[in-house]
Amino acid sequence: MTKLWGGRFTKATNQLVEEYTASINFDRKLARYDIIGSMAHVDMLASCGILTHQEAAIIIEGLNKVDYKIECGKVELDVGHEDIHMNVEQLLSKEIGPLSGKLHTGRSRNDQVALDMRLYLREVVVDMVEQLVQLQQALLTQAKTNLDTILPGYTHLQRAQPVSFAHHMMAYVFMFQRDVERLQDSFKRINQMPLGAGALAGTTFPIDRQQVADKLQFDGLCENSLDAVSDRDFVIEFLANTSMVSMHLSRLSEELVQWSSTEFNFIELDDAFCTGSSMMPQKKNPDVPELVRGKTGRVYGNLIGMLTTLKSLPLAYNKDMQEDKEGMFDTAETLKGALALFAPMIETMHVNKEAMYKAVAEDYSNATDLADYLVGKNVPFREAHAVVGQVVLHCINKGCYLLDLSLEEFHQFSDAIEEDIYEALTPESVVAARNVPGGPAKNRVQEQFLSAEQSITASLSWVQSLQSAVKLDG
Ligand code: ARG
Repeated sequence: MTKLWGGRFTKATNQLVEEYTASINFDRKLARYDIIGSMAHVDMLASCGILTHQEAAIIIEGLNKVDYKIECGKVELDVGHEDIHMNVEQLLSKEIGPLSGKLHTGRSRNDQVALDMRLYLREVVVDMVEQLVQLQQALLTQAKTNLDTILPGYTHLQRAQPVSFAHHMMAYVFMFQRDVERLQDSFKRINQMPLGAGALAGTTFPIDRQQVADKLQFDGLCENSLDAVSDRDFVIEFLANTSMVSMHLSRLSEELVQWSSTEFNFIELDDAFCTGSSMMPQKKNPDVPELVRGKTGRVYGNLIGMLTTLKSLPLAYNKDMQEDKEGMFDTAETLKGALALFAPMIETMHVNKEAMYKAVAEDYSNATDLADYLVGKNVPFREAHAVVGQVVLHCINKGCYLLDLSLEEFHQFSDAIEEDIYEALTPESVVAARNVPGGPAKNRVQEQFLSAEQSITASLSWVQSLQSAVKLDG
């Protein structure tokens, strides 16, 4: 097989080298982006008088055919042609003959691959923001229907202080909001146009980079040709931002797994999102959150892999950089799958309000409130803390809870305690009393709803404003 770069060579490539160095088995995913990029490039070459308009029209028509044939699997992509860029050019030559040789004028695969990666990733990022917003909406809906659902909040996985389930759900809404914002911020750096950098030092042709950038709806041009072909920061940023998303999903997953155990029994995931055991007929396993939790390892691995590949790499392009793709694709697809399941799984999850309330009632998570009550009676907090510690110990020994004690028993520990303590220590009062901005009191959680809704609206209009730009429709 003749190579596109075969002129300088006297021998055929070793078969194993060919297979080892090829990227076509994974970069075929970039076909559409590669072709759209080529079309914009050729269009520009014609407007700059580097190709005739007629030549450009023939090349573009040929590229359309190649695109169609790749899309419907009518052509073989060949390891002998190494990567998607050279495969497309070869296929183009089959369509239009030697004129295809003019496509690569003023361009290198180095700036070409950087372009393809950016085109791919900006679409992924916009879609991922949309999926994250859908998850936020599902969490928000659960929050709204559970404004009055009280459960223990935990620290050290020990019951700590009561909160509402709404408050707990909202914690995740804000967590995912930060993910949305990180992805949106990264978009600015992804959406810079590298073409025109050539192999590393630009080109001698009087090209118009801005025209290509405008055509492909980039925000600006990569400003240094060496940097344009060496930079994979945008890939690393994506892998880092998605690692954070995965970490967040794994935390939520872990809670779903715990909550759906018989021991907690706080939630039940819908049958449609669970699986059974091949041996134990009674089992209903939370496989989806478990697997999402498990896949976090791969997503982190892809980040560390890419950071390590780029470490100490001299400028400009090095073949090492071909390793940028598989991890990026894998992470993008892993997250896409997880997010697609998470929103409906959260939406359809049954919340066992009674079990949550029982957990909060049969427990000492109102102890801080007894201490705060004493502080209200002018007992210094440290002293109140010690007194309540003794009250709790007394209850543990007796096998009861704070609200089970008589006023006489309370008085053995402090005279400051009065009849109103019984109202003050109910789960409802304890939550309502935490009426600070960001707190779990109902009106404070409603403030969170409002703020989250504003963020969600803003994210959705961001997605909408970009979706048509980043979707390549040939
Ligand atoms: N397949 C290569 C990659 O994915 C494309 C760029 C190759 N450039 C080169 N000079 N070998 O990175």
